[in-house]
Amino acid sequence: MSDDPLPPSSPTPAPGRPTVRTAAVIPAAGRGVRLGPGAPKALRALGGTPMLVHAVRAMADSRAVSLVVVVAPPDGAGEVKSLLDTHALPERTDVLVVPGGESRQQSVKLGLDALPEGYDIVLVHDAARPLVPVDTVDAVIEAVRDGAPAVVPALPLADTVKQVEPAATPGEPEPVVATPDRSRLRAVQTPQGFDRATLVRAHETVTDDVTDDASMVEQLGLTVVTVPGHEEAFKVTRPLDLVLAEAVLARRRLNDGF
Ligand code: CTP
Ligand code: MG
Repeated sequence: MSDDPLPPSSPTPAPGRPTVRTAAVIPAAGRGVRLGPGAPKALRALGGTPMLVHAVRAMADSRAVSLVVVVAPPDGAGEVKSLLDTHALPERTDVLVVPGGESRQQSVKLGLDALPEGYDIVLVHDAARPLVPVDTVDAVIEAVRDGAPAVVPALPLADTVKQVEPAATPGEPEPVVATPDRSRLRAVQTPQGFDRATLVRAHETVTDDVTDDASMVEQLGLTVVTVPGHEEAFKVTRPLDLVLAEAVLARRRLNDGF
């Protein structure tokens, strides 16, 4: 891995340093069941623009990212491709669209399989986190460039967390088993950044169901590190999250003077 001292947004490496190219894989093949009935979640509009377009732009905003691989709903790759064709992206960014799978993990694997040679750093970013700021993206890339095999943006928790014995019937009282020390817990976001070879090996090796990619690297016995996450990188999961996302966009428009 390069120890390139330049900021990750720099388009040109220092003389004599190898260029480390970065690609982003965006799993966007989920239905969005928790959001309620409607179009696949990634295609729902935020501020009049599909969530997926926001997410692709959030990756393309980083000057270090030169390729975005979008993993579309299995039967919707054509539709997603034409959608992206009609929305402007920076000239420097290439976009590939591939069909996804049954689980997020399968979708990410399909995205990785489509990644051309020549990209040594891979970001995996949920389409459902459309508003992640570019500084967070760049901080993740920089930590991978500095040699970490896997990097996750993370935030301290606001709520205390309880471990329970899950009830057989949803809604029934559940006995609390433990209360982990909140000061040692973090909520993790995306983009998660990886040394490409490590992430590929993780996806070839780990078969357990996981909810994030970094945990697969943990299972390889490697150390995953965190960088500061951002409150605007929250995941749009339930209807109230759409309200929050619209409010963030409205605040940005105000701050941009439009
Ligand atoms: N995802 C995917 N392929 C799947 C399932 C999920 O690419 N088979 C993607 C989603 O599109 C999303 C990200 O993984 O961008 C995070 O998943 P989540 O927020 O759970 O989205 P959904 O699975 O769509 O939502 P739900 O679980 O409510 O159905
Ligand atoms: Mg899901």
